[in-house]
Amino acid sequence: EKGTYSHFMLKEIDEQPFVMRKIINEYQTENNELKMDTGVRQAMNSCDRIYIIAAGTSYHAGLVGKEFIEKLANIPVEVHIASEFSYNTPLLSEKPLFIFISQSGETADSRAVLVKIKEMGHPALTITNVPGSTLSREADYTLNLYAGPEIAVASTKAYTAQIAVLAILAVDTAKTKGLSLDFDPMRELAIVANAMEVLTDQKEAIEDLARKYLRTARNAFFIGRSIDYHVCLEAALKLKEISYIQAEGFAGGELKHGTIALIEEGTPVIALATQKNVNYSIRGNVQEVVARGANDMVISMKGLEQDTDAFVIPHVHELLTPLVSVVPLQLLSYYAALHRDCDVDKPRNLAKSVTVE
Ligand code: F6R
Repeated sequence: EKGTYSHFMLKEIDEQPFVMRKIINEYQTENNELKMDTGVRQAMNSCDRIYIIAAGTSYHAGLVGKEFIEKLANIPVEVHIASEFSYNTPLLSEKPLFIFISQSGETADSRAVLVKIKEMGHPALTITNVPGSTLSREADYTLNLYAGPEIAVASTKAYTAQIAVLAILAVDTAKTKGLSLDFDPMRELAIVANAMEVLTDQKEAIEDLARKYLRTARNAFFIGRSIDYHVCLEAALKLKEISYIQAEGFAGGELKHGTIALIEEGTPVIALATQKNVNYSIRGNVQEVVARGANDMVISMKGLEQDTDAFVIPHVHELLTPLVSVVPLQLLSYYAALHRDCDVDKPRNLAKSVTVE
């Protein structure tokens, strides 16, 4: 039920801090050790390469998950759009492990890949919000997202839950491999939960930004580098699907290779700046688009902010910034859609779970 909320999407955005805390509890033993299915542990430890298969928002979570698994657990990862995998099938490694990421667990494109790789005899893990779903039942292992039912068509809390579970999975794998890490995922996720709460308390400020930048916009661009780029893809998808504004996410460095031709007087360009090592470069991209008339909105992280930034998110661990930077972007999409009189929870032409290929 929506309760006092006008839309499920807003309710589900607000639930994210609680989902983080639920995940922390569910993936921890009484002795504060990571709790992980032993089959999953073995599968992660015996593979030589991971293939993440997903669609839409879950694919964007997979892009972030790749960063965790490669950087923390030292296993190479490829992320594939489910619907493309059948035609653009990569050369597989000797011992592949397939990870299917799906909120609903029913996405037909992902299931088609699962059927195919099971025929080939490869192991599969499904990370889903619905443990009894098709993808869960047909895979060898399942990890639950514990996000609670997601009703709004636009996925919000499932995305952050997917990223949190992937972070825990990466750290658990690193630990069982005996790799040394100075990253306590539960402590960092608790900090993330608090940061999310700070952001969901700032709805008015974000509503103002949506009014100012997006109420009458024809198009909008999201730019970022490194892990921020993955979040830009998700922010653009969220904005386009519920507000119908043509929105695209771009890697900052790619601007000059074509996209900058689209910048006109007043074009909204939303830049993410949460990563220290690319802060200088993304700021340079902002200057480039401003010089061509763009209406810039920089969302930065505390510690990296500049006076002209439109919005600053609290400081969290650099690897986990997507969990936090996405929250104002989800809210931005929500308010943009609201002020353009769109049907927020049920955007046109879309279904919550896509059960046809
Ligand atoms: C976007 C959205 C879709 C889904 C996609 C995959 O907000 O909801 O892009 O992410 O259809 O769905 P699942 O995760 O259920 O496989």
